[in-house]
Amino acid sequence: MLDPARFEQLLDDYKQRVDAALEHWLPPAELNPGRLHQAMRYAVLGSGKRVRPVLVYATASALDIPLERVDGIAAAIEIIHAYSLIHDDLPAMDDDDLRRGRPTCHKQFDEATAILAGDALQSLAFYILSHDPQMTPHVDKRMQMIEILALYSGSRGMAGGQAIDLASVGKNINITELETMHIHKTGALIRTCIQMAALSGDDVSNHQFDALDSFAKKIGLSFQVQDDILDVIGDTETLGKPQGSDAHLDKPTFPSIIGLPAAREKAQELHQQALAAVEDFPAKADILRSISQWFVERSH
Ligand code: IPE
Ligand code: IPE
Ligand code: MG
Ligand code: MG
Ligand code: MG
Repeated sequence: MLDPARFEQLLDDYKQRVDAALEHWLPPAELNPGRLHQAMRYAVLGSGKRVRPVLVYATASALDIPLERVDGIAAAIEIIHAYSLIHDDLPAMDDDDLRRGRPTCHKQFDEATAILAGDALQSLAFYILSHDPQMTPHVDKRMQMIEILALYSGSRGMAGGQAIDLASVGKNINITELETMHIHKTGALIRTCIQMAALSGDDVSNHQFDALDSFAKKIGLSFQVQDDILDVIGDTETLGKPQGSDAHLDKPTFPSIIGLPAAREKAQELHQQALAAVEDFPAKADILRSISQWFVERSH
């Protein structure tokens, strides 16, 4: 585990780094159609934790991969995430008015613009991955990365998980079904971060790749378990999104199915399993260990 001050510093550095990359790739607000471009920028820029870019950079750093090779990956994944949040907040989905401490995209603009902003952000992510000259020089690896992001953000990953989420409202699903939902809606994109970063390296062994992927699966689930917990115990101001949204919508969550204490234990258990998955890695991987801890101890 890293010293907390050092960890904070790295989080800050990585956030600044991805913010510069996002600014580079997002269309200017003045460019026609201005309202669409403003909505895209509004949803992406601002106070997100940048968890997924942080994971991309941390994985690259643990594997000695130059960070400029993964700037495009970090930006593309954050952009997919931002699109998923715009759509997640729409009236047809979670119908939330607050995101990252300000009105949701459809409240600030309008529903049609928010839908289009999500659509356009998704396309932009794949544009970045096909164009960024700083990414891996190997065309086959770039193709593999595009394939992973397409698969894990689509109906067999994030969007599929969102479909399961909506179909589960008001239902009594069991814990295995809940895990499947979480693994898809949130875990898949988190796995993508680590897989795409690892693919950027020239000498990452299969053993290292598999260990990192096992780690990613554990923290991908722990992140959503904690998100569920924070919906119960957090406060709206700290969260920057409405506390109690899940209960209000009668969503099945870890606390609603197994109770708050067991949900907390589950998060800790996943954290320990994540640490075990990367136990063979040297101290350079401490940043990943600290991220796993952050995921289950965070308050927003
Ligand atoms: C929220 O993600 C949605 C989930 C997948 C749980 P984050 O908690 O990463 O949201 P931001 O990016 O910091 O706003
Ligand atoms: C959202 O899960 C997952 C995705 C956006 C893919 P939630 O609906 O729990 O996320 P929040 O709590 O609104 O951020
Ligand atoms: Mg949702
Ligand atoms: Mg939501
Ligand atoms: Mg939530």
